[in-house]
Amino acid sequence: MDGLLKITQDKKRLLQEESRKTSKWSYRSSNLTCGSVEKKFIDKNIKMENKDFQASELGTKEFWENTYKQEFTNFEDNGETGDVWFGKKCQQNIIEWIKTCKEIKHTDAIVDLGTGNGFFLITLAEQGFSCLTGLDYSENAVNFAKAVAKNKNINHITFEVADLLEKDCNAISLQKKYQVCHDKGTFDAISLMPGQFEHFKNAYVAAVGQILVDSGIFIITSCNWTEKQLLEHFKGDFHLKEVIPSPSFQFGGLSGSKYTTLVLIK
Ligand SMILES: C[S@@+](CC[C@H](N)C(=O)[O-])C[C@H]1O[C@@H](n2cnc3c(N)ncnc32)[C@H](O)[C@@H]1O
Repeated sequence: MDGLLKITQDKKRLLQEESRKTSKWSYRSSNLTCGSVEKKFIDKNIKMENKDFQASELGTKEFWENTYKQEFTNFEDNGETGDVWFGKKCQQNIIEWIKTCKEIKHTDAIVDLGTGNGFFLITLAEQGFSCLTGLDYSENAVNFAKAVAKNKNINHITFEVADLLEKDCNAISLQKKYQVCHDKGTFDAISLMPGQFEHFKNAYVAAVGQILVDSGIFIITSCNWTEKQLLEHFKGDFHLKEVIPSPSFQFGGLSGSKYTTLVLIK
């Protein structure tokens, strides 16, 4: 199971329900192997500008508020810190990449977009990184992340409620500039929002472009989009520096990967 998306029983049930509504992300979450192989087939056939999955509840703020409310309660009751999206191995690979990247200093400003339980930043803080910001539009996520960090005696991460897609959002974290922007699963969630995907995508790209310094590093992990699709979404604003390898598997004579992590440069 190493590296596979870890999901709680409740979430699994919800995701299975969602999969019936054909959201690829949900399908992949409850059955990653089939989802990924199916994705490879689809990748060859779809038009790049089109989504090959539909909006779902995972694209709503209400879903994330409820999720993190529950996770916060679990944390208070029994100290559980919740899910690491795409698994611990995925996060570990990204952190190792950051640690060995010659262009990133331990004092560089790093922002985590849609930080959730804040675990990514908490782990970076434990590795000696000192200028860390986590933003999330879910207030429950931000309160949860603050509580987890405090519990670990980590006091130098700034967590703030901020909606990446809100035009003229006055959150302090969106006024600052960063050497590194990190996204694990947030663009995926945004891709599942009901409404005009192109509009949301453009707002997302504009927001990342605004807060990232020139030649800054943007690390994105997605299970909804392939490398080719991500590059298509971000072309013009970012170019590919590197692909951080993700676990691959064989199924029915095909190979696939569970998620894609790209390092892009502005
Ligand atoms: C799949 S979770 C990933 C959480 C975290 N990055 C992780 O790896 O554990 C997606 C996160 O994106 C956040 N999110 C979705 N849309 C957002 C937006 N427009 N602005 C800020 N955060 C958003 C959700 O609240 C949720 O915490």
